Amino acid sequence: MEKKITILPGDGIGPEVVASAVEVLQAVGKRFQHTFHIAYATIGGAAIDQHEDPLPQETIELCEQSDAILLGAVGGPKWDQNPAELRPEKGLLRIRKHFDLFSNLRPVQAVPSLIKASPLKDDLVKDVDLLIVRELTGGLYFGEPRKRTDEEALDSLVYTRPEIERIVENAFELARVRRGKLTSVDKANVLDTSRLWRQIVDEKKAQYPDVEVEHSLVDSTAMKLITNPGAYDVIVTENMFGDILSDEASVITGSLGVLPSASIRSDNFGLYEPVHGSAPELAGRGIANPAATILSVAMMLRYSFGLKEEAAEIERAVNAVFEDGYFTADLATPDSRVLTTNEWTEKVLNELDTSFVSDSIMTTYI
Ligand code: IPM
Ligand code: MN
Repeated sequence: MEKKITILPGDGIGPEVVASAVEVLQAVGKRFQHTFHIAYATIGGAAIDQHEDPLPQETIELCEQSDAILLGAVGGPKWDQNPAELRPEKGLLRIRKHFDLFSNLRPVQAVPSLIKASPLKDDLVKDVDLLIVRELTGGLYFGEPRKRTDEEALDSLVYTRPEIERIVENAFELARVRRGKLTSVDKANVLDTSRLWRQIVDEKKAQYPDVEVEHSLVDSTAMKLITNPGAYDVIVTENMFGDILSDEASVITGSLGVLPSASIRSDNFGLYEPVHGSAPELAGRGIANPAATILSVAMMLRYSFGLKEEAAEIERAVNAVFEDGYFTADLATPDSRVLTTNEWTEKVLNELDTSFVSDSIMTTYI
């Protein structure tokens, strides 16, 4: 297979973790005989500094010529006082909208060797394996009209039927190949957008008799995510609720630093990025863990390119390195072995190589 990938390193630890993930991508390409063509462009604060635009036209054009995008992170204190259009986050919002990346997948799985870092009790956390499907291009983030004066401000919460239908269908399909349980989260006791959302979920469920559906109000979901996180399989929700719930869910397993995400269009073109932010305080010190970005590459291979075996192999390698007790300083617990970002990446690369050697020996022998 031959694919073009645009790399947007961004700000803070973005460039460091992306460099690790690109090495892993190339190693997997070599091992499975795929060619990944890599090109770099700017986004966020880095793009503001170079082009006075958080999403320059040349970045958009390069992404348009690609099969997928890998992003590090955007943002940092340097640009916090900038006007709205010149904030790093605006680049992210614009790229989501420009490419119609409506389906944001944020999986949260307990990693046994990281459970100690969870603020919750081990037995609540150990079986957590959930997927948040967040609508990413509608709702309050993009609704018109908007207004801001010193006396009054307005944001609009708008959802159309096609916008809800496509994300809900996507979530049903994902639930069907997981554990068959879908929780649709809304605020239907107050909001009309939520009442339409709930109606559409109920209409669709006849087509998915194998999926068990429940509706859940966002406030009580926020509570149950803490008291019983193991009860969830797929959670589908609108943009703002998904933003909030996914940050909450990401700390449940103690592994915020290792969570990947995908933002996908209906033809499977996608943008992949770690859930953690740019972490300016860790930047440039070689201590950030690249697992979330490496696992985002695995999601790219699975969702955009259909390379399931390759994706699973990356996930296996990352888990093996954690299971061997290797961490970076940002994730370290007292009895762990602390490596730098580059050393940790080497361990993953070795893990990928080792299994290649043993596979090929086995094949030759037989
Ligand atoms: C996220 C982030 C973004 C969002 C910000 C940076 C605009 O919090 O990806 O969850 O709110 O969507
Ligand atoms: Mn967020």
